[in-house]
Amino acid sequence: SMHADLQVMKEAHTLAAETYHNVLRMTEEGAPGRVYAEERKLSAAQLEHFQIGYAPDHWEALTTIFSNKKWSLSLMAQCGLLSARKQAEGYYDLFRHRLMFPVKDGKGQVIAFGGRAIGADQPKYLNSPETPLFQKGKTLFNLHDARSGMRQRDQVILFEGAFDVIAAWQTGVTNAVATFGTALTIEQATLLRRNVSQVVLCYDGDQAGLEATRKAISVLEGVGCEVKICLLPDGLDPDGFIAHHGAQSFRLHLEKELMSVMMFRMHDRRIGKNLQNEGDRLRYIEEVMRDLAKYPQAVTREYYMRQLADEFGLSIEVLREEQTRFRKEVA
Ligand code: CTP
Ligand code: MN
Ligand code: MN
Ligand code: MN
Ligand code: MN
Repeated sequence: SMHADLQVMKEAHTLAAETYHNVLRMTEEGAPGRVYAEERKLSAAQLEHFQIGYAPDHWEALTTIFSNKKWSLSLMAQCGLLSARKQAEGYYDLFRHRLMFPVKDGKGQVIAFGGRAIGADQPKYLNSPETPLFQKGKTLFNLHDARSGMRQRDQVILFEGAFDVIAAWQTGVTNAVATFGTALTIEQATLLRRNVSQVVLCYDGDQAGLEATRKAISVLEGVGCEVKICLLPDGLDPDGFIAHHGAQSFRLHLEKELMSVMMFRMHDRRIGKNLQNEGDRLRYIEEVMRDLAKYPQAVTREYYMRQLADEFGLSIEVLREEQTRFRKEVA
């Protein structure tokens, strides 16, 4: 039956996670995984806590284990652990020679894997495909284990990748989750909203991260989250920032450098403009005023208009007058 099939698929994931983890920890064939884990500065505690593993450089490691258990290999392929051979009968392991991150569902059951290439192999990440157990857009890496920390703080940190979650955990940030390299969905945002009021977006400090931040803000606000943004400098991502600047500095950054959405918009509107230039300056002021017009709270609008007035030496009365005009256009 369907239920029995799902049960076996889950059992297979539990066994696969244990197998990859044990290969990494204590086998000779796990050496490349250990070398890479050391290169990435993963501690024994991180390897244990996230049950990080290594998929050996074999075509039939899991395949043999599953065969011996007399599990249907077709089922094992349907849940994304094996692939069917194209030219011949039979199956082979989907994940080979990769550092493996188990992905859990809301109950803590392993349902998928992220596989990081060792070194520069391509593709850099191989994730489990969409299966009856795993839908990328409805799952968040680390949600199960982060939930108590999220609820305690009423806050979650949202990263782009599992590696960022794992690096942040080592610095004491335990209320963090990540997507799987795809845009944040409404379903994922809803999962967050069920557990916390505030979401801190901490995406990679590059162009892609900036664009993903803009999109995630609107998805998160759409489900009623309070959004804060943590921008990282110099094109660094969270794991890179931690490697370069250390744990202490990262934690301080997460605590002290949080931007409101409006501050982020103002920062964003400045990119590519030269505010010494009169045309750019006027365009910037108008864009910010139009952003502000969408805010229902008069106090918020007044607060940022005062900032504009101070920065550009404008009278607050003129800005208020303009604001009234933009508000009518929005309504
Ligand atoms: N990703 C993916 N496939 C790729 C590249 C990225 O699925 N070829 C996903 C992964 O989930 C990854 C996330 O997108 O974690 C963010 O991508 P990126 O910033 O490039 O990876 P990092 O997490 O920084 O990975 P690493 O530090 O190992 O280079
Ligand atoms: Mn262990
Ligand atoms: Mn990136
Ligand atoms: Mn990254
Ligand atoms: Mn990274």
